[in-house]
Amino acid sequence: MDSRIFEQWEANAEDYAVLVDGKGTPHHQKILNPCVERLLGDVQGKRLLDAGCGEGYLSRYYAQRGAVVVGVDISEKMIDICKQRSKEQGSEFFVGDICCLDFIQDSSFDLALCNLVLLNVPCFEEALKGFFRVLRFKGLLVFSVIHPAFNVFGPGRWELGGKCSDSGRRKGLYFVSDNYFDEKEYLIQWKTRVGAPFPKRFSFFHRTIGTYMKVLTRAGFRLIELEEPRPIDDDPFFERERRVPFFLVFKVEKFAR
Ligand SMILES: C[S@@+](CC[C@H](N)C(=O)[O-])C[C@H]1O[C@@H](n2cnc3c(N)ncnc32)[C@H](O)[C@@H]1O
Repeated sequence: MDSRIFEQWEANAEDYAVLVDGKGTPHHQKILNPCVERLLGDVQGKRLLDAGCGEGYLSRYYAQRGAVVVGVDISEKMIDICKQRSKEQGSEFFVGDICCLDFIQDSSFDLALCNLVLLNVPCFEEALKGFFRVLRFKGLLVFSVIHPAFNVFGPGRWELGGKCSDSGRRKGLYFVSDNYFDEKEYLIQWKTRVGAPFPKRFSFFHRTIGTYMKVLTRAGFRLIELEEPRPIDDDPFFERERRVPFFLVFKVEKFAR
């Protein structure tokens, strides 16, 4: 287990749980989650691994739709919150590192979901090898990251104008990106729901789309769909996200045995 990443998420777990508020942020609800749900397809009766489950709102959502869910997260505090919030459900939650899934049996899952986690993980090739091992043949992995080409937690940022009167959010003038090929770690300070800094900065590992493709192919997956989800409605708040994609979502299949 990477102690530095563990310490970041352990220190930030409670504020993160408040931020997602049992349902995800507006970006999750209006851009990412509908896309992930479509890519996962019918989960009824399927065994689903929620890798890096956080406070577990997606685990609960898919358990309510009939999946048998196992959630794994590196943070003990996050798993405690998960268990408290998921009491009525039969889902199981474990503290564990997705880069070392030795405690999970081979070919024991139909589906793996890794939502906004791989970009926080230094050892993502090990994670993909682990997902390959624990999925059955033809099992599906859906994973999302911040879009690497427009990575606001990496080498990109918006040049901002004044506040938009409709949304209260600053208007995007244009997006600046540079050093795309420089794959490295960025330490990012996030704000909590009340606008205070999180106790610790988060590590974000920038990788190119080419690297994601190479590594997942090398692990034995093949690409089924690649999505750059757009906001589901014309909420003025998402003026920037209608112009430049915020997330990138992969649906891949365990292709080799
Ligand atoms: C941005 S949150 C996403 C949580 C959840 N998937 C969601 O969509 O709400 C990232 C999560 O990944 C977890 N995490 C980071 N590195 C991990 C690792 N190596 N193994 C397991 N979980 C990890 C963090 O503790 C955190 O809960």
